[in-house]
Amino acid sequence: MKIAMIGAGYVGLVSGTCLADTGNEVTCVDINQDRIERLEQGQVPIYEPGLAELVVRNAALGRLHFTIDTAEAVRSAQLVFLAVGTPSNEDGSADLSYLWQAVEKIAPHLRTDAVVVVKSTAPVGTNQEISNRLRKLTGRECDVASNPEFLKEGAAINDFQYPDRIVVGVRTPAAEDKLRELYAPYLRTDKPFLTMTPESAELTKYVANALLSTKISFINEMANLCERLKGDINDVRRGIGHDRRIGFQFLFPGVGYGGSCFPKDVRALADMARKVGLEPRMLDAVDTVNNHQKFVLLAKLKQQFSDKLQGLTIAIWGLAFKPRTDDIREAPALVLIDQLLAAGCKVQVHDPEALKNVQALYGDKLLYATSPLDALEGADALCINTEWGDFRNPDFDEMKRRLRLPIIFDGRNLYEPETMREYGFVYHSIGRVPVK
Ligand code: UDX
Repeated sequence: MKIAMIGAGYVGLVSGTCLADTGNEVTCVDINQDRIERLEQGQVPIYEPGLAELVVRNAALGRLHFTIDTAEAVRSAQLVFLAVGTPSNEDGSADLSYLWQAVEKIAPHLRTDAVVVVKSTAPVGTNQEISNRLRKLTGRECDVASNPEFLKEGAAINDFQYPDRIVVGVRTPAAEDKLRELYAPYLRTDKPFLTMTPESAELTKYVANALLSTKISFINEMANLCERLKGDINDVRRGIGHDRRIGFQFLFPGVGYGGSCFPKDVRALADMARKVGLEPRMLDAVDTVNNHQKFVLLAKLKQQFSDKLQGLTIAIWGLAFKPRTDDIREAPALVLIDQLLAAGCKVQVHDPEALKNVQALYGDKLLYATSPLDALEGADALCINTEWGDFRNPDFDEMKRRLRLPIIFDGRNLYEPETMREYGFVYHSIGRVPVK
C-alpha cells in the first residue's frame, strides 16, 4: 500500500519504518528540514534500539522515503497517517496546533478514496473535528480513522511488529478493510484486530495509559506505607501478584513514572473529564501521588543528613525516565537534581545514554561522569533513579573505595538489603526496611 506518514518524530518514524518493512511504500514527511536531510543520509535523530538499521535497510530497498513536501507524499497515498506531536498545555490539556497545521496541509492533496488515520494521541472528539475541518477544506466527506499506538520507548520496534492488539476506530467499511489488510502481517497469531467507533479508539489509548499509571502510583503509595509499617514491598508484591486477578506487571515501586506519555495522558484525560463536568478524583490522585513520589529520595537524603544538605557531594546514577532510552522528559532525576542544586549540593551524574540531553539542560552546573564509578569519586552518597542493566551488578568494594561515605539511596530496589549489609553500606530503598 502507498502510505504518507505526517510527522517523522518518535511514533511516525517507528510506525513508518515498520510499515515499510512489511512491503508498503512509505513516505515520511516532516516540517524540520534538517531532520529530513539527516534521515535521507540514514541518520536517525532518536535513540531506539534497532531503528537505524531498519531505516537504512528500507530506504536502500526504495520503499521508505523522506521529504518536507507534503503534497508529494499525500498525492498518491491510500493511507495518510497523522503522527505529529500533541504536547501538554500549561493547564494539562493537549496542544493540537501541529495536528491542525497538518490537516490544512494534507487537505488539498488527498485522493478521494484516501483514508486519513490519526496516530497522534489526541483528546476524544479530535477525529470528528478533523473530519469537520477536512469537509470544509475539501468540500467533500473525507474518511478519518483513529488508530492509537501502544509503543514503549526502547522496545518500540518489537511492540510494533508483535502487538498485543490493534485498535482501530472507523466510520466506514472501506477504512476498516484497508487497515485490516495493512495490519494482517502483524496479526498472524491469536492477537485481535479490534474495531470500534473513533471515540472509543481515542479513549482506549488514554484509558490504557491511565490504568498503567494508576498501578504505579498505587504500588508507590503502598511502598511508602510498607516503610512506615516495617513491611517489605517486595514480599507484599509477591504475596498479591500470585492472585491471577492482580498479577505482577507494572507493580514495581520506584521514584515515580516519567516520559512523554503517562504524565501527559493522565493530565489530559483529567482535563477531558473536567470539560464534561466530571470530577476526575482518581486521575488527580494518580498525578498527585506521582509528583510526590519524585521527591522520595530527597526526603530520605534529608532524613539521613538531618536536613543539612548544603555542601554535600551527591552522585546520581540514571537520568533517563527509564532504561534503554536517552529520553529525560518528566524524568524523576530532574526533580532530584533541581532540589539538590537548590539545597547547595555538588551533583555528579552518570547515565549510559542520557548525559548529552541532561548537559543541554544544566550546562556546567553538574559534573558529568562517563562511567558509573567515576560519578562516585568523593561523593557523600549515591542516588539511583533508573534501573539500567549496567547498575545491577556493580563492584561494591570499588564503590566503597570511591565514595566518601558508603551511603546508597536506591530508587529502583536494585540490590538485596542483606548483600548491602554484608558490604557495609547504609542502604535506603523503596518500601523496604533500611540497612543502617
Ligand atoms: C508508555 C506505555 O507503556 C506505552 O504503551 C504507551 O504507548 C506510551 O507510554 P513508555 O513511556 O515508553 O510507554 O514507558 P514505560 O516502559 O511504560 O514506563 C513508563 C514509566 O513507568 C517509567 O518511568 C517507568 O520507570 C515507570 N514504571 C513502569 C514504574 O515505575 N514501575 C513499573 O512497574 C513500571
